[in-house]
Amino acid sequence: MLFIGVDCFEVISGIYLVLILLMIMEGEPVNVNEFQELARQALPKMYYDFFSGGAEDQYTLKENVEAFRRITFRPRILVDVSRINLSTTVLGYKISAPIMVAPTGMHKLAHPEGETATARAAAASNTIMVLSSVSSCTIEEVASSCNAIRFFQLYVHKNRDVAAQLVQRAERNGYKAIVLTVDAPMLGRREADIKNKMIVPPLPPLKNIEGIVSTEVDNDEGSILEGFAKGALDASLCWRDIGWLRSITNLPILIKGVLTREDAIKATEVGVAGIVVSNHGARQLDYTPATITVLEEVVHAVGGKVPVFLDGGVRRGTDVFKALALGAQAILIGRPVVYGLAAKGEYGVRKVIHMLKDELELTMALSGCPSVKDITRSHVRTEHKKIHSML
Ligand code: FNR
Repeated sequence: MLFIGVDCFEVISGIYLVLILLMIMEGEPVNVNEFQELARQALPKMYYDFFSGGAEDQYTLKENVEAFRRITFRPRILVDVSRINLSTTVLGYKISAPIMVAPTGMHKLAHPEGETATARAAAASNTIMVLSSVSSCTIEEVASSCNAIRFFQLYVHKNRDVAAQLVQRAERNGYKAIVLTVDAPMLGRREADIKNKMIVPPLPPLKNIEGIVSTEVDNDEGSILEGFAKGALDASLCWRDIGWLRSITNLPILIKGVLTREDAIKATEVGVAGIVVSNHGARQLDYTPATITVLEEVVHAVGGKVPVFLDGGVRRGTDVFKALALGAQAILIGRPVVYGLAAKGEYGVRKVIHMLKDELELTMALSGCPSVKDITRSHVRTEHKKIHSML
């Protein structure tokens, strides 16, 4: 009788435990992709479309993610993986994992605390945040909100004085590098924003340029954002302007938006400190290839002269591993951060980064790589052969 009683008790407490676990887990996303749906529920349709959308047919948007799925692993066995070390360095700064926060604009449309919450999450995760030129918190607000290592992303305005002022403010406020975005001489055609007549509410969200550049735009045709970009972005920006940028700052310059061997070589010739392989999260030129498919071409062209980074479609720790295996020093995430922020504020961003780190750690253990430097080309299988045999 006693035996049966104890047995029943154990069963009942077991059931309770499972129920409690289920309750705790209910609504808690278990991977980064699940944050997207939470963000969709949390945001007005116009803002969700703005964050999630891509250009035109959104071929590249899909492909950025799909291309990762076509890469499989060649795991190595019987390696001591009892201790995994995810840490790495970027431009000499030690970070906890090769996962950084990409520049994405207007975080206050996702959460009232905007970029300051994102920056605090980056600091708590011991990683680097790249602040967008079109942020909704100022360079100064973000700098004073936390001690994250920060880079500043630059869109060059038609009025070069505006760009120069932004760079100088970033430098004065302890940002450690300038990330020059070069794939946006004009804004890509984002049809969801055009349909929604994407309106920036009177936050005003483009805080960095408030009072310097007029954000008043009249664009009856469609997206207000597009109208603003047309008036502000300098479509004449070209290679010789890297020299101009170098003349106005002592900070290292990364160039973001490289997709070809030819431009990678030019970038190293003009003396950039690093290259970000990026198609702007598929928001600019549709039918550019998925970034992961051109990474190796760029890495090979650069020949180790400067570090190469990648963004676009990274949603899993396995994706991070694949990018590292194909030669990236680290990756950046754009939408996952915004989705985390929209769904759960600073905690959501921390959780997104944490999930990717956990998954990367597991991938490294199961592939026989105790540290990031152990991840090599031979750990992945791609549809094409190793790049040097192709060129
Ligand atoms: C961006 N991106 C971007 N890039 C940039 O250089 N300056 C910017 O202000 C922005 N703003 C921006 C807003 C939103 C909503 C998105 C989704 C993207 C591009 C970004 O830095 C990065 O290249 C991509 O987001 C990477 O792709 P994933 O991670 O979003 O797939």
